[in-house]
Amino acid sequence: MKHRIGILTSGGDSPGMNAAIRAVTRSALTRGMRVYGIRDGYKGLVNGDIFELNRHSVSDLEVRGGTVLGSARLEEFKLESVQDQAVEQLKKHKIDSLVVIGGDGTYRGAASLTAKGINCIGLPGTIDNDISGTDFTIGFYTALSTICDAVDKLRDTSSSHHRCSVVEVMGNHCGDLALYAGISTGAEIVITPERGYDETEILEKLKYFEVTKKKNHAIVILSEKLTNADILAKKISGATGFAGRSTILGHIQRGGSPVPYDRILATRMGDYAAELIENGIGGVCVGIIDNKITHMTFEKALTTPKKSRKNLYEMFERLV
Ligand code: F6P
Repeated sequence: MKHRIGILTSGGDSPGMNAAIRAVTRSALTRGMRVYGIRDGYKGLVNGDIFELNRHSVSDLEVRGGTVLGSARLEEFKLESVQDQAVEQLKKHKIDSLVVIGGDGTYRGAASLTAKGINCIGLPGTIDNDISGTDFTIGFYTALSTICDAVDKLRDTSSSHHRCSVVEVMGNHCGDLALYAGISTGAEIVITPERGYDETEILEKLKYFEVTKKKNHAIVILSEKLTNADILAKKISGATGFAGRSTILGHIQRGGSPVPYDRILATRMGDYAAELIENGIGGVCVGIIDNKITHMTFEKALTTPKKSRKNLYEMFERLV
């Protein structure tokens, strides 16, 4: 059977989503399938915003940030009646398989469609790196690179002024961006949801770095949604010899051309998704584990706890 496949991107965009769209499309076309783009995630699917893609429609996408298909978060997709509308649209366009690129919310939508008989494949597209079925998500390393550029610059000015920079990064309840950024930039402290927020401990550590270790400046990388970065910076000014300053990196972390790692990851995963469809496999999401492209059921990816980062935290502490 020659498959007709749909592709959508959903949730927060991430650099490398476009490279994945290109890879799925071209790999599927080469395998004799027909490919359809769906605009703005599940919203476009429900509304039938669907159009055919050819090789030319995805030219040059490996270098472009964002997603050319557009993305959205659709809370209503939890409702069965809304999922049924999506199934109707897919049937109308004779699309039998769907590749979804996004985070855990996107996977939950795909799991529901799979239960309704649509052959779904998930690709992990999020800067947060918060998906269990993969060591790394598409976009994580690009966001990390953006954070590192910013922190390197902040370190210059912090050291000139004997300051402590509190840098808030994204992650949505996952501390990987903060932890990896802390390791990459030689930060003094990382504050993550996995480790918890202990203000007394943070202020004590900073005093120790200043007084005992004679550090001239400090960088604190703070995962979002744990506390207010500005208030923490003010407390640092009050309780330590450092002048505290806060920087919230915000959505700048989601933009930009993907770094080569993300381009390659997205391309390998996109090609693999088309291969899975060709082999009649569905209801699964693609991941990279120990540098091998693999897949597991949505159910498993959504319920397995994330790998512990204990060793990385311990290494970070040893090196401060
Ligand atoms: O999931 C990606 C992410 O960028 C999170 O890190 C962040 O918490 C959230 O999306 C922000 O969402 P929005 O773009 O809707 O403000």
